[in-house]
Amino acid sequence: MSVATDERMRMIIQEFPKTELHLHIEGTFEPELVFEIAKRHNVAIPYRSVEEVRRAYDFHDLQSFLDIYYRAMSVLLHEEDFYDLTIAYLQRVSRQGVRHAEIFFDPQAHTSRGVSFETVVTGIHKALEEGERRLGISSKLIMCFLRDLSADSAMETLDAGLSFKNWIFAVGLDSKELGNPPEKFEAVFKKALDEGFMAVAHAGEEAPAEYIWQALELLGVSRIDHGYHCLEDARLVEKLASEQVPLTACPLAAVGVRYFDSVEHFPLGKMLQLGLLVMVNSDDPAYFGGYVEENLAAVQKAIRLNEQDILHLLKNSFKASFLEPERKQKFLRELDEKYASL
Ligand code: HPA
Ligand code: ZN
Repeated sequence: MSVATDERMRMIIQEFPKTELHLHIEGTFEPELVFEIAKRHNVAIPYRSVEEVRRAYDFHDLQSFLDIYYRAMSVLLHEEDFYDLTIAYLQRVSRQGVRHAEIFFDPQAHTSRGVSFETVVTGIHKALEEGERRLGISSKLIMCFLRDLSADSAMETLDAGLSFKNWIFAVGLDSKELGNPPEKFEAVFKKALDEGFMAVAHAGEEAPAEYIWQALELLGVSRIDHGYHCLEDARLVEKLASEQVPLTACPLAAVGVRYFDSVEHFPLGKMLQLGLLVMVNSDDPAYFGGYVEENLAAVQKAIRLNEQDILHLLKNSFKASFLEPERKQKFLRELDEKYASL
């Protein structure tokens, strides 16, 4: 049975299987839940309504976003708060075709406020287990080091994470990029890899291509988060394309912090043309106007991607994941079958 073109595109974007590979769980903290948890703990927040909170989400760079992001998460105190945050995310994206999610969390943003690593990771982990059981979404957890804190602090965080090796799959690197190059964390990542974690890092988001080189050569990462600045360096593009190093692009977030002045200028088309293994993710959906489906829809419309382009992006999201090879192949086959039967 054939369906109208717009309806076909809607179905592909909304219903087809997909992964999310660049998602900060603290970035899914919707204002409604911020209010609910603040009330639960009787803590005051400097906003009177959900609308007032949303009006404050007008960022001009990465730091102006991070300021609000860290402030909002300060109401998260107990295991159940982290559970509620995570299950709310999974419930939402189970309606968007997400079948597998690789989720960042920022331990230091909580341990620095006196919340234990164990509290944070247990709350998140219990929700991820529940998500797999009840919603059929598999997941892997990635603990990120805040790069604007010291390498010693990152090392302490890694050491705390060693007690939860069964629950944590990889390490990552996020927060203020400029002035905090990957080389600062070389020893931490070396130890993480020796301990059996995989590694990823935000690089080339606001800083130049050199940070991407460092992430690859000094940190041993398997994926680059964002990575837009690779486009300034032809030799780097050549390496990323020939080795198929994944780049986790986040269109609405990149526009939200004004790296690009509109989704029309987001370089996804160019990245695809260059043969880079890129896919669409949401980063901090509560702050930037959308989860993975809204990101895909926005970019499809803005740069007029066709059905094959979207299918390609969805396939890339599975190829770039840390899923076991058989599950990857199963999802890739399922995508082809679904497309053939549209
Ligand atoms: N970049 C850096 N740090 C972050 C981000 C991001 O996209 N999201 C949450 N912390
Ligand atoms: Zn990010």
